[in-house]
Amino acid sequence: MGILSHLSIIYLLWTAMVFCQYEDYDFGDEYDEEPDHQHSDYFNPNPQAEVPRFPTPVECAKECFCPPAFPLSMYCDHRKLKMIPNIPAHIQQLYLQNNDIEAVPAGPFTNVTILREINLSHNKIKFHMIDHGVFAKLSNLVQLHLQHNELEEFPFPLPSSLERLLLGFNKISQLSRNALEGLPNITMLDLCNNFLDDSVLKGKRFSVMKNLMQINLCNNKLETMPPDLPSSLMYLSLENNSISYIPENYFSRLPKIIALRMSHNNLQNIPYNTFNLPNLLELNLGHNKLKQLFYIPRSLQHLYIEDNDIEMLNVTLMCPSIDPMNTKQLTYIRVDQNKLTTPMSTYAFFCFPHIRTIYYGEQNGNVNKSTQLRTSVFRRLLTPEEYDETEDDHETHDQETEEDREEENNYFYPYFQ
Ligand SMILES: *[C@@H]1O[C@H](CO)[C@@H](O)[C@H](O)[C@H]1NC(C)=O
Ligand SMILES: *[C@@H]1O[C@H](CO)[C@@H](O)[C@H](O)[C@H]1NC(C)=O
Ligand SMILES: *[C@@H]1O[C@H](CO)[C@@H](O)[C@H](O)[C@H]1NC(C)=O
Ligand SMILES: *[C@@H]1O[C@H](CO)[C@@H](O)[C@H](O)[C@H]1NC(C)=O
Ligand SMILES: *[C@@H]1O[C@H](CO)[C@@H](O)[C@H](O)[C@H]1NC(C)=O
Ligand SMILES: *[C@@H]1O[C@H](CO)[C@@H](O)[C@H](O)[C@H]1NC(C)=O
Repeated sequence: MGILSHLSIIYLLWTAMVFCQYEDYDFGDEYDEEPDHQHSDYFNPNPQAEVPRFPTPVECAKECFCPPAFPLSMYCDHRKLKMIPNIPAHIQQLYLQNNDIEAVPAGPFTNVTILREINLSHNKIKFHMIDHGVFAKLSNLVQLHLQHNELEEFPFPLPSSLERLLLGFNKISQLSRNALEGLPNITMLDLCNNFLDDSVLKGKRFSVMKNLMQINLCNNKLETMPPDLPSSLMYLSLENNSISYIPENYFSRLPKIIALRMSHNNLQNIPYNTFNLPNLLELNLGHNKLKQLFYIPRSLQHLYIEDNDIEMLNVTLMCPSIDPMNTKQLTYIRVDQNKLTTPMSTYAFFCFPHIRTIYYGEQNGNVNKSTQLRTSVFRRLLTPEEYDETEDDHETHDQETEEDREEENNYFYPYFQ
């Protein structure tokens, strides 16, 4: 009993470690905490049972380290390597990040059969230095980390088993017509911090990725919304592009969207019903040029519209009718750096009964001090019932302010590194 619980604690710590080092762009906890099957199918809490399958010493490239406790992983990271070492046949996880690797030749992969994860981030890999088909033949590969390299083109072909592909911080400005095909299982595609513009994405069929849940296109050069996204999409990140409008009904093909991040764009007018989406929880439109508000869907919890040109929070517009049986879920609004002169009308608290905080901060374009907004943060105190409800999660005293502080900090937390 004692040993078992010890082992399960070690297992928990270890999985926690794996989750923590997941990736650059973090779309929030729900997504990251998704159970990670590929690790559990080889991890055996009883090390005795593993040993006979791997005669000691376990085969390992001399440049690398293969921990006896995780015999299927080979660690070759942070070693100033210029070349990929030969990979033994039994390796499932290969860590090659933070080296000086420029090429991915087929040779070292000759014996590979069950490789599931490769981390090649923080190297110097160029597209034309990747042997054609070297990744495609890895028919068990589920995760490929290639962020922080020198790729000028989207790497292809890739194996159809791939689930997560990280390509952030490269120089990708080319995407071959069929590069996205044959990736039916991909759920997460990170392309932030590249040189993608509208012409690169034009005519590319993102919708062939029928299981895609998350696509990150932040810090690129897009001027219009990406075309043809699959209806499976839940997380869409488009921060820091130059997008100036959202076509009418753009999201009607994307009913599963949970989080939409479009801060630091050039949005001015948004069609009134654009965000009428049944699952939307987070909407970030900060640092745009919005003048008008729009319909707030029932599910929305967090709304960020700081640094726009909004003069008034017209509640009638955000919430044209009240349905007491189906109240709106909004809890937080951030509206600082707009042109507000008055706080939101108290009618808002009927329409958005769950509001906890409205962050008014400082407003712009208002030299006349006497019309400057006085309130900087509105906080609603919890009713005793609500306090009891949340007490289990926050055993400490002042949970209201603690949670709010945490929420506020989130806004300044960098989404991309
Ligand atoms: C891959 O390497 C990067 C460093 O470039 C690291 O931050 C990340 O945690 C690694 N990811 C995995 C899953 O090993
Ligand atoms: C592949 O395996 C064979 C037989 O074990 C070995 O001789 C050869 O060096 C291996 N090649 C690579 C690239 O690991
Ligand atoms: C895609 O995922 C499904 C479900 O996990 C799996 O059965 C199938 O083999 C995968 N396809 C490929 C090509 O790996
Ligand atoms: C936006 O992207 C540009 C490069 O495209 C970068 O220089 C700038 O720092 C980014 N801004 C933010 C707020 O991330
Ligand atoms: C708020 O929006 C409603 C609906 O569009 C409009 O009828 C009303 O005039 C607006 N209120 C103000 C004060 O602008
Ligand atoms: C500032 O606003 C007050 C009250 O609205 C008004 O009487 C005054 O003339 C304004 N001053 C300027 C410089 O606009």
